[in-house]
Parts: sequence; structure tokens; C-alpha cells
Amino acid sequence: MDYTIGADLGTSALKLLLVDGSGQMVRSVTRTYSVFFPRPGWSEQDPADWWAAFVDGIRTLCAGIDPAHIAGIGLGGQMHGLVALDKYDAVIRPAILWNDGRTAKQTDYLNNVIGKETLSFETSNIAFAGFTAPKLLWLRENEPENFRRICKIMLPKDYINYRLTGVHASDYSDASGTLLLNVQKKCWSQKMLDLCGIPDTAMPQLFESYEKIGGLLPSAADMLGLLSGTPVVAGAGDNAAAAVGTGTVSHGRCNISLGTSGTVFFCTDTLTPDPSNALHAFCHADGGYHRMGCMLSAASCNKWFCTDILKTDDFAAEQAAILSDMLGKNHVFFLPYLMGERSPINDTDATGVFIGIRMDTSRSDLVQAVLEGVAFAIRDNTEAAKALGQSIISSSLCGGGARSPLWRKILCNVLNIPLQIPQSEEGPGYGAAMLAMVGIGAYPTVTACAKALVKTRKIITPDPVVAMRYEEQYCKFQSIYPSVKQVFQKIQ
Ligand code: XUL
Repeated sequence: MDYTIGADLGTSALKLLLVDGSGQMVRSVTRTYSVFFPRPGWSEQDPADWWAAFVDGIRTLCAGIDPAHIAGIGLGGQMHGLVALDKYDAVIRPAILWNDGRTAKQTDYLNNVIGKETLSFETSNIAFAGFTAPKLLWLRENEPENFRRICKIMLPKDYINYRLTGVHASDYSDASGTLLLNVQKKCWSQKMLDLCGIPDTAMPQLFESYEKIGGLLPSAADMLGLLSGTPVVAGAGDNAAAAVGTGTVSHGRCNISLGTSGTVFFCTDTLTPDPSNALHAFCHADGGYHRMGCMLSAASCNKWFCTDILKTDDFAAEQAAILSDMLGKNHVFFLPYLMGERSPINDTDATGVFIGIRMDTSRSDLVQAVLEGVAFAIRDNTEAAKALGQSIISSSLCGGGARSPLWRKILCNVLNIPLQIPQSEEGPGYGAAMLAMVGIGAYPTVTACAKALVKTRKIITPDPVVAMRYEEQYCKFQSIYPSVKQVFQKIQ
């Protein structure tokens, strides 16, 4: 029996899956690594930690498996991160991540001096602080010595693919988030490269996500215990990979991911302009396009509140105190902007806020407010999509947060749509394994692969009474950010 390996290079951990030819996940391995916050709002990781986790994880994942039966490897990964390599392909400085907010000034310059119209024309997107282009401008201004040494720019999962194959490659879905790609034409934008002072020789070669970029180098194969030449596909940004893994691959379909970030992902056949630019317009891993709203802190809000503040890792016990009857009745509200916020408000100054706290407020009211605040912020993104004419009648749901039955119920009623829970909860990793299957010819297209393999395990439906209560709660939530927006600027 042949297997494919799907990897999800996430922010808090690397997840590796071994998937058999029938699409069954037979093993999974997780390796965690650190995120460094050297200053408030900054967020960095060491690419060497990713590689060490990959090597160690693969050896465990494939222990006892004949390497001749590993038919292909695919990676999905956290998007937008800047990995800069020098002329020896050595990493110049720690990677600056997707949720790093240091580039407010450069983002402002791109949006307001270069102008949103020019950016939209060149890339179909405007600048957000986490995107790669503003990071390059920041580096040029603040670390000129490092900037001068740049010979290649890589996204996080592309760096691992480079270590595996020796090929500097990227795929269109992940490349879309650099603000350096002409998303419509699927090529690097010379104008954006010039603006950032980057030669086109620094840019990786572009592939479709399911295309093979090369085979395992003998040295990498040796380290991993696999065979040299094992095919590696280009892979995808984690959200596009998750969409593949949840079967979100044809026009009009929607996937919501409750991971470290929270995303709302809609497939489209064509790119239509978004005059408000609230949502991103990126290539999809199936060869089409998608629109996406991304909130920077989703499941991480719950993790922060339980682990760092309440000092417990037993999330289920915290949630057990929140009974069905309490849903939609909370007097406490939470704004989940712990790392600033991307979509739809694009505000690096925004912070987390609890509001409505009283003498009778309990611990579980606060836990509930955190779960609800994230769900309301997801709804802000579905509302932005509806304003673009996107109809949302249902969605699939994946990500670590989706494992909580309570959180699923809250989200389902806040959005007032049915949510499908796929059989494989490992959205990006499973999608990456599927891309590898297409790459090795097991399926002709990503859509065919999704049709054959992705199954729904469960559908959560809204309760009309709870949904109505949440409608009122959402209206209240919506009034909070505009009232405190000015305060965020003052207290920064
Ligand atoms: C998407 C985004 C995040 C990261 C998290 O635009 O920034 O979802 O990809 O891994």
C-alpha cells in the first residue's frame, strides 16, 4: 500500500499526517515550536526550528514503513511569513510572521502613498500589516544590512520544500499573500518588486499547488529516512490547503477555520473587484480563486485566556460550566484583537477588550465572552462577504477550535447557518496530502480528489431561538469597536 505525507506547518505546531491510498489517515505526529514576541506586536520564528521539527516528526511518522511506499509529500503552511536567504541560502534573520504588526508605517505608505488603486491593479489586494511586501519595506528601512544580503525570499512552507528538494519554489495560493503577485495573471508583479527593491531573481519559481516541484535530495532523504527522489508538490497556504481538505473546492463553497487565526474562505471561479478591500482576493489551490477574511487571533484567544490568565489547560472543564440556556444571554462582550486585527477592520492598534463586567460576572461569563467574541468577529467577515454579493447558506468548519462542541454551537447560531464537520479534522494537513495525491497522478484534479475523499461526519444546525438571541447580541457587539477605535490609537 502506498502512502502520501501531508504536513501543516502551523504557527504553534507542525502536524504531519500519513494518509493511505483510500484517503484514510493512518498516523499523525505533532511537533511544537516556539513563537517569539521580541517586542509588543512583533511575532517571529526560527526556520531552523521548523526544519528540526520536520525531520524529527517525519522519522516518527514513518517508523516501520517501507520508504518505497511513500509516494509523495505535500505541505500546507502559515502564510505571509518572510524568510530571507543570503547568497549561500542561509537564513538571514528570524522569519517575520503573518500576525506581526510592526509594519503599520509601511502598510500605510503602500495603501496611501502608492495607493490602494495601484495595489489592487497590480495584485488584486491592498496592503495589510502581515503581508510580505510591507515586511520587506520594514527590513529595508530598519535592518539595511540584512536587507542588502537578501538573495532569495521564501514563504515558510517553501523554505521546508527548499530544504527537501533544493528548489526555490512557491505556489500561487501562498504567493498571493505576499502582495508581490499579480493574482489575476499568476506572475510576480515587476512594479511591486521594484517598489520593494527586490530583483526578480530573488523570487521563487511559481507552480500550481498540485504540481511536482522536484524530488527529495539525497541528503534530505538520508536525514528523513526516506528515498531520494520521492516527489514533493508545491503545496499551498494553510487556508487554501484546509479548503482542499474540507472539500471547499468549487464556486460558492465556504470553509471556516478556527485555528490560531480565524478565517472565512469562499471559492470563486473568477476574481471580482472588492471596492472595500475588506477581504483578500487570492488564488486557490485547485487552480481557481478565493476570497478570504482573516482574523489574527481566534483559537489563540481561548488558549490565552485559559492558559495564561486562568492558568488551566483543561479547556473542556472551563466550558462545561456554560450551559445551553446561557447562550445568547451574556452581559460581557470581548473584542478578540490580541494581535491587532486584519479583516475586516485592518487596524494594527486594536487590542483585546472585555466590556460589560459587573460585580456578578463569573469566570464562565468571561470564558463564554471570549468564545462569543471570536464568533462575532468571524461574523464580521461573513457580513463583509455578503456585502460583496456572496451568499452563504452553509459552511464547513475545521481547525483546533472546531473540536469544542460548545464553540461550534455558538458559531453556528451566531452565523445562523448549518456547519458541516468533515470526517478528517486535519484541514490543512489532509488537504496537503490530497495535493500530493493529485501531484503523483492518483487523481486527475483537486476537485476529483475532494469528491472521492472528503466526507462529512456531522452537520450542526442553528436553533432558531438561540440564533435570534445571538442576532441581538451581534448588534451590540458591532457597536463596540467603533466606540473604542479612537481609544486604541491613544493608548498605543
Ligand atoms: C491568512 C493568515 C493566517 C495564517 C495562519 O491570511 O494570515 O491564516 O496563514 O497560519
